[in-house]
Amino acid sequence: MTPEVLYNIRTITYIIASATFIIGLKRMGNAKTARNGNLIAAVGMTLAIIASIFIHVNKVQTETGVAFEQVETPGFIYSLIFAAIIIGTIIGWLTAKKVQMTKMPELVSMFNGMGGACAALIGLMEFHHNTGNTGALIAIVLGLIIGSVSFSGSVIAFLKLNGTMNKPVRLPSYNIINTLVMIGVFAFGAYMIFSGTESSTLLYLLFAAALIYGILFTIPIGGADMPVVISLLNSFTGLAAAFGGFLYDNKVMLTGGILVGSAGTLLTLVMCKAMNRPLSNVIFGAFGGGGASAGDGPDVKGSIKDMSVADAAVLLNYSKKVVIVPGYGLAVAQAQHIIHELEMLLEERGVEVKYAIHPVAGRMPGHMNVLLAESNVDYGKLVEMEEINPELEQTDVVLVVGANDVVNPAAKTDPSSPIYGMPILEVDKAKHIIVNKRSMNAGYAGIDNLLFYDPKTSMLFGDAKKALTELVAELKTM
Ligand code: TAP
Repeated sequence: MTPEVLYNIRTITYIIASATFIIGLKRMGNAKTARNGNLIAAVGMTLAIIASIFIHVNKVQTETGVAFEQVETPGFIYSLIFAAIIIGTIIGWLTAKKVQMTKMPELVSMFNGMGGACAALIGLMEFHHNTGNTGALIAIVLGLIIGSVSFSGSVIAFLKLNGTMNKPVRLPSYNIINTLVMIGVFAFGAYMIFSGTESSTLLYLLFAAALIYGILFTIPIGGADMPVVISLLNSFTGLAAAFGGFLYDNKVMLTGGILVGSAGTLLTLVMCKAMNRPLSNVIFGAFGGGGASAGDGPDVKGSIKDMSVADAAVLLNYSKKVVIVPGYGLAVAQAQHIIHELEMLLEERGVEVKYAIHPVAGRMPGHMNVLLAESNVDYGKLVEMEEINPELEQTDVVLVVGANDVVNPAAKTDPSSPIYGMPILEVDKAKHIIVNKRSMNAGYAGIDNLLFYDPKTSMLFGDAKKALTELVAELKTM
């Protein structure tokens, strides 16, 4: 095959791969098609990797037009590439297979950090290969800065999520310091581009400064806001990869980077909207881990009503309509299978059961949907917040399992509450509310919940898996 034909084959492969990414993303928007969408995009990525490794043809401008020249790749380079692919695949496969659903944000932050590190390494490698092309130099320097920020920021996010760094570190006037450091890093980058310097020392200093900025950017943010931050860093990685695509004239890298960048940005905005907090509040707001502490919030009046498993079983058994509200605690307790069993048992007895899904229940987008899909809950039973809220008035029992903030009425009634304005599941409209959690401890926002003191609410204390297992056993005796 001539170099021109090979070049065209690679271009077509890149177009096909780009199309699979878009189709894959689209299909990931629905739980039924998500797995297949993931597979389609993975096939596209495999094709793109094969084409990038095996077809080394450059298009060059000559005096008479365009020419295609094939570049020979030494055998030992292939050995290095395949060794890296094999090691990476084994590590990636094993970690993804082993990871628990509740640890997914950690895994995503680590994978995202690796993407940022790749973009940064491209910048470090290509800086000295550049021959006076300013456009390429801009892509190199921006890729280096953004990739480094994304890498070090993701490592901090990972440490916060796995509990190693469990307190936000807030230097005095950290917002001002961070803004100045960010401006400093970009000014340094501009100097590297326009001064014509070839200094390796300055290049590594820029790399170090960007890494430090990534750390400073992430350390003040509360651990529970990390999913939003990871999504934001993910969009940075996409941007850095897109610069790489521009640099290498690699269309699939460019499309992939743009898709990751825009999907990450949209996801960040969707999460902020669902929490009714602007992004600036997530980054600078000192929320979730230090800002609010357990017990903050409304002046709580009244007492709580404790309930036994037997009482809960009777109440559920004689209901016509039950709505289950799953939350973060359900995921922690890994109670998704037993809740499905409870749902089937109630349905057998003629009780209509639905699940109310809040957009930010749990700790990552779609957390509850994925969790319940794992135990084969019928997807049609999962009802979004806007749709279920009007039905709650006609609901006999709402069973809240390990959810707290997403059902806190303070979001509607207390303007001083940190969650004021966040749309919630209006479970206080139902005839009875059963709340299962282990204690009176606060949820993610660190505030008390008036729902627990509502005369219609009964608290079923205990670990979700244990309490639901006992509930199912009790129901079976009835
Ligand atoms: P939370 O408000 O975090 O409450 C979870 C509750 O689960 C806690 O109060 C805890 O009480 C209980 N719990 C923990 N382990 C349990 C177990 N083993 N068994 C039974 N209960 C257990 O959860 P939520 O209502 O799902 O709200 C999610 C929060 O995370 C929101 O504030 C949201 O803004 C935030 N957030 C979400 C996301 C996404 S994308 N989902 C991203 C960032 C932030 P006990 O300790 O008393 O058991």
